[in-house]
Amino acid sequence: MTGFTAALVLVVATAGLLRWRRLAWYWLTFGVTLALLRVLVCYGSVMDACGLTVPAPRWRLAVARMTNSAVPGPRAPRILRVRPTRTGLVLRLKLRPGQDAFDVAASCDRLRHSFAMYGVTSREVRSGVVELRMTGYDVLKRVQMPGKVDTRPMRVPVALREDGAVHYRDYRAVPHGLTLGATESGKSVYQRNLVAALAPQRVALVGIDCKQGVELFPLARRFSALADNQDTAAELLDALVSHMEDVYQLIRAEQRITADVPDAEIAADIWSLPDDLRPVPIVVLVDEVAELALYATKDEEKRRDRIITALARLAQLGRAAGIYLEICGQRFGSELGKGITMLRAQLTGRTAHRVNDESSANMAFGDIAPDAVLAAIQIPTDAPGIAITGDSSGGWARIRAPHTSLRQAVNICNRHADLTPDLPALAPFRPLVGIPAPAPAPAVESTPAAA
Ligand SMILES: Nc1ncnc2c1ncn2[C@@H]1O[C@H](COP(=O)(O)OP(=O)(O)OP(=O)(O)O)[C@@H](O)[C@H]1O
Ligand SMILES: [Mg+2]
Repeated sequence: MTGFTAALVLVVATAGLLRWRRLAWYWLTFGVTLALLRVLVCYGSVMDACGLTVPAPRWRLAVARMTNSAVPGPRAPRILRVRPTRTGLVLRLKLRPGQDAFDVAASCDRLRHSFAMYGVTSREVRSGVVELRMTGYDVLKRVQMPGKVDTRPMRVPVALREDGAVHYRDYRAVPHGLTLGATESGKSVYQRNLVAALAPQRVALVGIDCKQGVELFPLARRFSALADNQDTAAELLDALVSHMEDVYQLIRAEQRITADVPDAEIAADIWSLPDDLRPVPIVVLVDEVAELALYATKDEEKRRDRIITALARLAQLGRAAGIYLEICGQRFGSELGKGITMLRAQLTGRTAHRVNDESSANMAFGDIAPDAVLAAIQIPTDAPGIAITGDSSGGWARIRAPHTSLRQAVNICNRHADLTPDLPALAPFRPLVGIPAPAPAPAVESTPAAA
């Protein structure tokens, strides 16, 4: 008996300690079993209390009357599947006649409290089938990406969603993206995660970092071209536009279409070319985009117009040539001058980190999802990296990228430096030409002690 009591105390103490210090481990060891039991045992009564039941069908009531048996009670949606995950539970429900997905979505908060879960979201899988994703703890507090992610060419995992799913940046589905956020809200860390995720792929990275290059230049070994000031940025963007035109010529030649066909009529893209002919896709990362649009003198104004025109052309025509824009900034609205709203309209993927005012959030979501605007304003200041992102279904989700340090990103970029393609059109902007590669990074990523 004493041995049993000691074992019980040990188990309870371990559970308590894990719950206090390591929520993810607690979930995998104790939490998932307890939650599963709670959901399966209380399912019927919780659904009834949350108003998610329907009365029994008439024929069953009639049969009960005829056979003088007990009157069947109201029925909850049928559970098709329960799947425990590393962060929560996924329930697939078959709705009863008369119910709709909106009923379930409207009850998510009630279900969250009733099942004592951290978060519950729902989505319609197909007509009559709804998926409830429950999270057992705050997965965004300390983001840990799952070991196995579904990475494909030009589709990289970049953050975790609050429902525990991985958020992917899919350049072929959503070619251009805009990331907004106040200062210190986590934009550069998000962009760094993108670079680290793209580094092992066959892709050319081009960076424009008008903060004197502090964010992107340390990652230079994996970049095919970099610019750290407005003048170089203008020339680099012009070079990209001419590269884009060369790619179009190549596609036309492959299509056997005569050179007289105007660009806008070309329907194909680089992905329809044979592998050996396909030009390498390019991701253009712009940090602090407002720096490119500000000017003080007449000359600077001309340069600004040149930059914005080139960006707008790349946004409009770049996708087919495999050029994808990833633009980051604190604000990106009409106060930055002409051409900005036109450019913004081309940037389909929207992500907003913490913003200081509604108008900044409106720049990201005002025209897409008004409730996402509210969610972006509500991001707390003590949680940098949390962001709202529009998703392909027209909805939105809260995400947070893992905290990749600059040192980790540099190591990843250096490790994959041999994958950096040489693009002749961008050769003048290739950083670190002639500088030998550094010694391999130490296995332990610690700050070296001062000599
Ligand atoms: N996903 C994250 N998880 C944890 N901490 C984060 C995350 N993203 C950012 N941070 C913290 O917030 C700090 C600021 O992040 P970052 O430099 O990306 O902000 P920013 O929006 O680019 O700011 P600025 O506009 O001034 O360049 C980082 O140094 C880091 O400590
Ligand atoms: Mg930054």
